[in-house]
Amino acid sequence: MTVETARLTLRPFTLGDTDALFALMSRPEVARWSGRGVPMVDRQEAVDRIERMPVRRGDHPAADVFAVVPHEVEAPVGMAVLVPIPASEGFGRDAHEIGWHLHPDVWGRGYATEAATALVERAFASGIPEVYAVTNPDNVRSQAVCRRLGMTDLGLRSDWYDRELRAFRLDRP
Ligand SMILES: CC(C)(COP(=O)(O)OP(=O)(O)OC[C@H]1O[C@@H](n2cnc3c(N)ncnc32)[C@H](O)[C@@H]1OP(=O)(O)O)[C@@H](O)C(=O)NCCC(=O)NCCS
Repeated sequence: MTVETARLTLRPFTLGDTDALFALMSRPEVARWSGRGVPMVDRQEAVDRIERMPVRRGDHPAADVFAVVPHEVEAPVGMAVLVPIPASEGFGRDAHEIGWHLHPDVWGRGYATEAATALVERAFASGIPEVYAVTNPDNVRSQAVCRRLGMTDLGLRSDWYDRELRAFRLDRP
């Protein structure tokens, strides 16, 4: 399942993307905003991440972890996700999140917003009623993407990932 935008192809990762994913997630300025905030140091971590993606994508047919590939290149420059959002302990509600990670070499081109716009359309077209995005409270670049998408700022919320994050929501029109 591939998604085309004006400048990008969004497609599932394969093990052939291991070096590109490692190049992305070994960058401290990218890794600091996700998960434990620790950059990858070993290429095997990228292999493991790709192998876990089918689990991360969940059951919904529209959901996936997408490689972001500009039309003029072959290797991914980033990752965009439409995946189930893990509820915090005691917050057991099913929902989906969108997310984005780009290699710093391609920040400032609008790729994250372009990819996420396509994933939002895909989510709503497939019956998902609302999408969330959760950001580290200090991650102003990611919060700017949420605003460009027209998402509503929910403020600091602890509903997901067992920690306090700045959350955004977009409802199906
Ligand atoms: C968050 C992240 C994806 C944002 O990337 P980004 O390039 O700033 O965001 P966009 O793709 O929306 O690009 C918007 C910028 O491109 C510019 N731009 C240039 N050409 C453009 C075009 N054709 N269309 C739209 N915007 C364009 C915009 O003016 C804007 O610039 P600004 O930052 O100076 O205001 C990136 O910083 C990143 O990967 N960070 C590390 C990982 C991370 O934090 N992930 C999120 C975890 S919650």
